[in-house]
Amino acid sequence: MTTTLDAPGLDVREDVRSFVGSSRQLFIGGSLVDAADGGTFATIDPATGMEITQVAEATAEDVDRAVKAARAALEGEWGALPGTARGKILLRLAELVEEHADELAQLESLDNGKPLPFAQYDISSVAEHFRYFAGWTNKIEGATIPTSIPNSLVYTRPRPVGVVGAIVPWNFPLLMATWKMAPALAAGCTLVLKPAEQTPLSALRFAELAAEAGLPDGTLNVVTGFGEVTGQALVEHPGVDKIVFTGSTAVGRIIGATAAKTVKPVSLELGGKSPHIIFDDADVEAAAAAAANAIFYESGQVCSAGSRLMVQQGIYDELVERVTAIAESLKMGTGLAPDTTLGPLVSEEQLDRVRGYVETGLSEGATAVTGGEAVDGDGYFFRPTVLRDVPDHVTVCREEIFGPVLVTQPFESLEEVAQRANATEYGLAAGVWTRDLGRAHRMAELLDAGSVFLNCYNAFDPAVPFGGFKQSGYGRDGGRDALEKFLETKAVWTNLA
Ligand code: NAI
Ligand code: MG
Repeated sequence: MTTTLDAPGLDVREDVRSFVGSSRQLFIGGSLVDAADGGTFATIDPATGMEITQVAEATAEDVDRAVKAARAALEGEWGALPGTARGKILLRLAELVEEHADELAQLESLDNGKPLPFAQYDISSVAEHFRYFAGWTNKIEGATIPTSIPNSLVYTRPRPVGVVGAIVPWNFPLLMATWKMAPALAAGCTLVLKPAEQTPLSALRFAELAAEAGLPDGTLNVVTGFGEVTGQALVEHPGVDKIVFTGSTAVGRIIGATAAKTVKPVSLELGGKSPHIIFDDADVEAAAAAAANAIFYESGQVCSAGSRLMVQQGIYDELVERVTAIAESLKMGTGLAPDTTLGPLVSEEQLDRVRGYVETGLSEGATAVTGGEAVDGDGYFFRPTVLRDVPDHVTVCREEIFGPVLVTQPFESLEEVAQRANATEYGLAAGVWTRDLGRAHRMAELLDAGSVFLNCYNAFDPAVPFGGFKQSGYGRDGGRDALEKFLETKAVWTNLA
């Protein structure tokens, strides 16, 4: 059968061609295996709508096998390793990821549609995360606690939370998986990872590299499949000790409710509708470039996308014009084409969702300055869109669109913009541009958001916590907060008398 790789002029590496040249199996207990019922599904190139390859579709039985393999590794080889030895393996893994960076990046770009340089950035960040968390492996300490009880010695011992189920989305496939895997492994946990059905390939290749780095069999298992079957089986499984999830708020609610049945702790990194606020004393050129990048990078499929641009009245028209000019200069195309700066949306479903939102926005009174429609053809491309003078109450101003669609609004004062920016159910990120230091930090204090970016936007580092307030979720990826998510505390009491 013809696949997307048969398209003329597509410069795909031999190792990538060979990886997708046969259907991909599950990775359980260190082995590549078919699904119990032999089921597979297609993963699609969103630039062409054509199949890349078939991937095994894990059933509840496969999830059960993966959980048992993870338990065995926890109680066996991985659980017995001292922190320093875990750290060495994670450092070796970071090196292997770098050695295979071009291969992993092409695979990611093909499966997700993102421009290759963005995928390359993701993969370098994957390696950096493993390096950062490798550093924590031998620094996990308890405390001795003075108490009011005479003759007592009390100390705490942090221990890994156990078998972790990680369910991740398709926008940064391997990087989001890494945000869960790196701290979980550093803490000494084992994992069953379920990548998104739209983008299963990079996690499967990564699992092979993890084995090559010396991760014992069963420490990391990858079960590919759909949310309602494979994902749900993982959340329901009594042998899973914790669920970590990045994805939609709607599914986050379902996961929280399902996990409650087995009293599993859950961490949720969910959606956002993040305000990007520009005061009239800002560096207008830098702010406009950042505002465009905050919504058009990855075609707007970023949880912390700056999707609601709020500009002080005096420079509103200028900002809208500048961002529009940048939108119109973007080059749409397949992620592997060297001149592409705007890739397709990940799936037909996502294209339909974005199209629906924009139609609703226009019918509710927003004006499209540019874009506003999908591109005719087989791929899932949507034109970069700027909407102006959008009222606060309309759907496109309140809900996450997850596409290259920027809502813009003027504002007058600091108090007003802070109040309006916070009047949303989300609280993931916010950006503020001003040359007034006091105003910048005042805004940082007022905004209800897990990350506030002052004169920058969407900066990330493995050492810095990232996550949401309100219905953007709870728990943090990144930094020490992420590590602690995968530890639980045992208190030990001793009678010295
Ligand atoms: P989704 O939330 O359905 O998918 C994320 C992951 O959850 C996937 O691995 C999926 O298989 C899994 N999943 C779905 N239903 C599940 C269930 N019942 N039990 C266990 N796992 C389940 O996201 P979807 O449908 O792909 O995108 C819809 C919207 O979600 C987007 O338009 C966007 O607004 C938001 N989203 C937010 C992301 C973020 O980074 N915060 C990432 C992806 C989507
Ligand atoms: Mg795909």
